[in-house]
Amino acid sequence: MSNNSSFSKNIKNALVNSPPGEWMSTIPEECIRLNSGYPAPTLVPSEGIKAAVNRLIDEEKDLPLHYIGSPQISRLKEQIQTRLNERDIYIKSDELLITSGACQAIDLIARIFIDEETVVAIESPTYMEALEIFKNYTSQFISIPVDHHGLQTDRLEEVLQERRENGLTIPKLLYTIPTFHNPTGTTMSMDRRQHVLELATKYNFFIVEDDAYGELNFHKPPVPLMSLDKNNLVIHVGSLSKVVAPGMRIGWVAGPSELISALAWFKKDLDHPFAQATMANFIEREDFDKRLTSLREVYGEKCKVMISALEKYFPESASWYIPAGGYFVWVKVQGVDTEVLLKQALSKGVAYVPGKYFFYDPHVGTEYLRLSFSYADENEIRKGIKLLGKIIKP
Ligand SMILES: Cc1ncc(COP(=O)(O)O)c(C=O)c1O
Repeated sequence: MSNNSSFSKNIKNALVNSPPGEWMSTIPEECIRLNSGYPAPTLVPSEGIKAAVNRLIDEEKDLPLHYIGSPQISRLKEQIQTRLNERDIYIKSDELLITSGACQAIDLIARIFIDEETVVAIESPTYMEALEIFKNYTSQFISIPVDHHGLQTDRLEEVLQERRENGLTIPKLLYTIPTFHNPTGTTMSMDRRQHVLELATKYNFFIVEDDAYGELNFHKPPVPLMSLDKNNLVIHVGSLSKVVAPGMRIGWVAGPSELISALAWFKKDLDHPFAQATMANFIEREDFDKRLTSLREVYGEKCKVMISALEKYFPESASWYIPAGGYFVWVKVQGVDTEVLLKQALSKGVAYVPGKYFFYDPHVGTEYLRLSFSYADENEIRKGIKLLGKIIKP
């Protein structure tokens, strides 16, 4: 095939954008990675996963390596249900689908709901990969700003009201990360959680609640939107990437059973039975609550280190939110184009993500940068922030 003329319209439109995270592969190996939304290497349980693989093969021989895989896969579903129950989300087995990470869940949801003309409401800023996924299916977006209490639901209401008055299409989906948001680190307040649920009922749209960081609270655990939803309008997406290991590609989606069976229809065999069985075996022997307690402590400390380094080394004109959980600090550096600054930062040995990648309209995010405290160790965090501070205020 000499060109892409035979590709579907959706795919041709998608290929106009650059591949997700393309620029990240240009980061020199020796850089301090304040860009990475990866777990800390020391917190990835490689020995535990290795032991789980060995047990699985010893006990079940070839079984986990077939298409249908090991019977342990259904145990994984029960384990995830148990974790969700602990957060006041009570769902039946046919209301839960295991996916290849949260990203596959988002992609399947987009596939099921979105036609070319479908309007999707997103947060501004939002998780860049989700934005890229949605862009593969539609170009109709409504961006609603996020502040330190999360999504500005008053603004969402105004937009919905205006659209209804003017006979414009109401979004079918709202994609939100209400808890320890990527990239801003903020958490939606309880009032706004109630408000967004009221709006979903009044204007009849689904809320896709991306809860990838939901269990990584440094203080009080927040209340998932799904646990407050009385009208089955919340579709809850979760992941073990941030609390176990992203390479295992284990995520899920919880929602009404008709939706789950449609998603399962399209998912087909495009997930990993071996990884799922291994994860079930790992969780079986793991004290998961203890694991979460230690992740919360370690990330909470690293977050504190980053905030005090920012206070010490960044100019007074810079501002940020202090996150109550998750992986990220979102910084505004007045008058600085953070994409231009990145070249300099990389040459000095520190990487971050320029803000523009998190916005539908990239011109909006030029003064922002996302810093991650999850991957780098405490010394690297201090050193990286000091280097960045020097570049910003020479
Ligand atoms: C908000 C959010 N959702 C989903 C994901 C991806 O999750 P997974 O690895 O399960 O696909 C990430 C990873 O960075 C994320 O930040």
